[in-house]
Amino acid sequence: MRRILVTGGAGFIGSNFVHYLSENTDCTITVLDKLTYAASREALEGLDVQLVVGDVADPAVVDDLVGRHDAVVHFAAESHNDNSLSDPGPFIATNIVGTFCLLEAARRHDVRLHHISTDEVYGDLALEDPARFTEATPYNPSSPYSAAKAGSDHLVRAWVRSFGVRATISNCSNNYGPWQHVEKFIPRQITNVLGGGRPKVYGTGANVRDWIHAADHSSAVWEILQRGRIGETYLIGADGERDNLTVVREILRQLGRSEDEYDLVTDRAGHDLRYAIDSTKLRTELGWAPAYGDFEAGLAQTIGWYQAHESWWRTHKQATEAAYATRGQA
Ligand SMILES: NC(=O)c1ccc[n+]([C@@H]2O[C@H](COP(=O)([O-])OP(=O)(O)OC[C@H]3O[C@@H](n4cnc5c(N)ncnc54)[C@H](O)[C@@H]3O)[C@@H](O)[C@H]2O)c1
Repeated sequence: MRRILVTGGAGFIGSNFVHYLSENTDCTITVLDKLTYAASREALEGLDVQLVVGDVADPAVVDDLVGRHDAVVHFAAESHNDNSLSDPGPFIATNIVGTFCLLEAARRHDVRLHHISTDEVYGDLALEDPARFTEATPYNPSSPYSAAKAGSDHLVRAWVRSFGVRATISNCSNNYGPWQHVEKFIPRQITNVLGGGRPKVYGTGANVRDWIHAADHSSAVWEILQRGRIGETYLIGADGERDNLTVVREILRQLGRSEDEYDLVTDRAGHDLRYAIDSTKLRTELGWAPAYGDFEAGLAQTIGWYQAHESWWRTHKQATEAAYATRGQA
């Protein structure tokens, strides 16, 4: 696999994956990205990458591009739960119709496809439940975002079985790291504090997320693309379970502020309680392990990155907080 097409490669995780490919492989990389509000050209600066600005739901663009590559890694998506509650339409168009377009192109040209998905397709776990998600957990999505991702996963499985498309799926836990939009939980809290404000925590802050650094997500995807079994699903996680309040307190501590300088705000409707990934299959079958085993160290690196890139995140911060304010969450 020499020629790789990365959809959504100007977004948070997609751009981290492009950096990973650039640093660790000699692949030729093309990015297909619509450059929505979540994208960032700067994230690709200095890399030897061709950027094609286009829509994954546009068959004309997709068919031609897919036919000129050996493999597609499909990150492009509308990705923010809160936005899916206020306007679900783009989530259906990109996450479901876009995946359908890519599958049809992969089928026509017999091109290998890896589909990036989320653990949110499984719904949530009780806070006290020791269980974790596995590849056998039934789908039970809660929000328009996770339902659209679940729909796209089902399409991929059906295209493998019905048409023999050479595809794999990964469902990853919550990512953090460089280039993540300030609407998302960790960058929002870091940039609030860097701007002299206070973190804003939904509900009571008891919701648990299983954090993984985007660089570890990238290395896992690369392993699956090279050595994963066609038709298989792999869960990606780094044993990083923390409740939201613990994460906020750690951010405040690392930035030299008192750990109780946060505000509780209106909870997200239908807010999932807990996610947790059992990544045994990926680790035993493909020998993958995360490089960022220590969440607090990964968080420190990420805080340092946001401190060094204020001119990048400043441009999005005001509009993002204004949107939170209209929902009573600022
Ligand atoms: N962020 C997480 O914690 C997380 C966890 C697990 C899985 N995922 C999955 O990883 C993928 C990437 O997530 P992210 O957090 O980097 O998202 P993001 O919102 O930061 O980036 C998405 C990218 O897709 C592009 N895009 C959106 N619609 C498009 C379209 N119609 N055509 C072409 N490009 C389009 C955007 O411009 C943007 O560059 C998604 O599929 C998401 O479901 C995310």
